Amino acid sequence: MMNIASPPQTQAASAATTTPAIRAESLTVERGPRTVLRGLTFAVPRGQITGLLGPSGCGKSTLMRSVVGTQAKVTGTLDVLDHPAGTPALRSRIGYVTQDPSVYDDLTVRQNLEYFAAVLAPGRGTAAARRHEDVTRAIADVDLTAHADALAGNLSGGQRSRVSLAVALLGTPELLVLDEPTVGLDPVLRRDLWNLFHAIAADRGTTILVSSHVMDEAERCHRLLLMREGEILADDTPDALRTRTASETVEAAFLHLVDEANAR
Ligand SMILES: Nc1ncnc2c1ncn2[C@@H]1O[C@H](COP(=O)(O)OP(=O)(O)O)[C@@H](O)[C@H]1O
Ligand SMILES: [Mg+2]
Repeated sequence: MMNIASPPQTQAASAATTTPAIRAESLTVERGPRTVLRGLTFAVPRGQITGLLGPSGCGKSTLMRSVVGTQAKVTGTLDVLDHPAGTPALRSRIGYVTQDPSVYDDLTVRQNLEYFAAVLAPGRGTAAARRHEDVTRAIADVDLTAHADALAGNLSGGQRSRVSLAVALLGTPELLVLDEPTVGLDPVLRRDLWNLFHAIAADRGTTILVSSHVMDEAERCHRLLLMREGEILADDTPDALRTRTASETVEAAFLHLVDEANAR
């Protein structure tokens, strides 16, 4: 397993010298009759953990689907790793864990990973040995080696989350998009998972975009995109947000910004 004791605020170098991992300009998404993302402009730097935070229904999952290229009716500019979102070449460079990830209960951890490795990357030299290596590494990355042969159905909630994360880590993606990965986990498991995210970002320079509707998770991110009703209220570091709004916590800062927006 990677060194999960890495200090949580380790910053990756070189972020300033490269283009952002994600760059959006006037990003708009329609769903049915509604405009659910309203002309968003923001950038997500490389090698850092950016938290996408906001209440349920504000558009987090829609934004993430846009980034990975599975959302319909996206207009405006959305560049991911220097390509327009949805470009086929990006598929192997992005790991994505959906909000309700599916893991097969009747397969073991290793069998789940073997299955997804075969389905997700059929083009990548289907050599069984290479795939076996990838799977073994991904299982080790999420510290499930001791449970590799356990049925997924017998795992705890936290262990299941890590199986989904391992699926996203297959192929060593440059960008990880994680949609509310800590929902429903107890505080200890949430902390362990956040330590793992930091280890991945620090050891590999992986860019992580992670969503949550729980504001206290904001403190664990290098940067934040605070969302509300399809708009971005703030794009900043947790420190800068607290300072700017004279708030003690990011939650208080968020409420301050909501009040400010409502007063306009
Ligand atoms: N199939 C759909 N058709 C129309 N609107 C939808 C559909 N699914 C979700 N929405 C709307 O899109 C908005 C954003 O949803 P979503 O991106 O899932 O938000 P979040 O992930 O922040 O909870 C919500 O207000 C929701 O009502
Ligand atoms: Mg969602």
